[in-house]
Amino acid sequence: LSIKKAEITIPVAAPALVGRELEYLQRCVTSTWVSSLGEFIGAFERGFAQLCQVGCAVAVSAGTAALHVALLALGVEPGDEVIVPTLSYLATAGAVVMCGATPVFVDCDPRTWNIDPTLVSEAVTPRTKGMLPVHLYGEPADMDPLCAIADEHELFLLEDAAQAHGATYRGRPVGSLGDAAIFSFYGNKVITTGEGGMVVTDDPEIASTCAQLRNQGQDARYHVARHGFNYRMTNTAAAIGLAQLERIDWHLERRRENARAYRAALEGHRLIEFQQKDPSNASSDWLTSILISEEAPVSRDELAARLEAAGIQTRPVFPPIHTQPVYADRAAVPFPNAERISARGLSLPSGALLTQQDIATVVGEVLESL
Ligand SMILES: Cc1ncc(COP(=O)(O)O)c(C=O)c1O
Repeated sequence: LSIKKAEITIPVAAPALVGRELEYLQRCVTSTWVSSLGEFIGAFERGFAQLCQVGCAVAVSAGTAALHVALLALGVEPGDEVIVPTLSYLATAGAVVMCGATPVFVDCDPRTWNIDPTLVSEAVTPRTKGMLPVHLYGEPADMDPLCAIADEHELFLLEDAAQAHGATYRGRPVGSLGDAAIFSFYGNKVITTGEGGMVVTDDPEIASTCAQLRNQGQDARYHVARHGFNYRMTNTAAAIGLAQLERIDWHLERRRENARAYRAALEGHRLIEFQQKDPSNASSDWLTSILISEEAPVSRDELAARLEAAGIQTRPVFPPIHTQPVYADRAAVPFPNAERISARGLSLPSGALLTQQDIATVVGEVLESL
């Protein structure tokens, strides 16, 4: 199959900076508050806490930084184990390793692609400190059984909601379902700050530890209470974030409309399977993702190449984290559901600026290839 690369005309998830972003950035510049002090940081934190219906939010420089400080604030130490889904973006497990602890991988539910609670129970050992479920592609993980396991074994429950801003689980916002949660504001996310992240929690002690850890571990100026980092968010990033947050309903509705359009056109096709949604939840529909049947005339990679040749950008579903070279010692353990989904899964263009015509173009190309 020889296919020439075309210019990308339909990106997988471009940011939509359609609110007061420029006005707020101008305020940063004219006031000179461009570093990590300024009016927008607190405003963004307060607004985001409100979205998640929690008491505290701590803005940091990336979702990975949010994971790192949240795990430390939850007491993760060298020698501890933290249960993570293997089907996720690599930062979920990487942050556990950054704490000197061990990520223990668990397979996913073949329908929802999220961590399978029954397998979580089996993975608990005397060294398990907590679990880190991911709301994959915006679909909330099945939190009720995970909460029950956390209670039974006295484990912490940290939500990796990096992809799930505004999603709800049984009517409750993600971010409010465990001891704490983290979000990412990377450029392709539901809302962005360029690079950025947030820890949210109802526990003021966890929040204040995270706030210290993001600022060199200081509890007062030049007074280091614990070893920390420079994970501060800038006022300029928060200015973009606040403008995005003001329009989050629009961002979510656009992504959900995309998902509905793809499902209306492709669900039920004998060679296509969608990530299954629980009707009592509301996904953020971060990236609409499909599985290409093994019986299809093209592989997932061939389909992606054909779409790219037509100017359509896609992403393969994340490789299971345990298959990465740095986890070579775990590669022998099979995680069949994650491996199957990862081998056949493709994330379709899903950004807020897509038009119905764009979606029709993507659908047309997919159908022509299958
Ligand atoms: C599930 C998940 N966790 C963590 C992260 C890390 O966020 P960041 O890239 O902002 O560091 C991401 C980023 O894409 C993610 O998808």
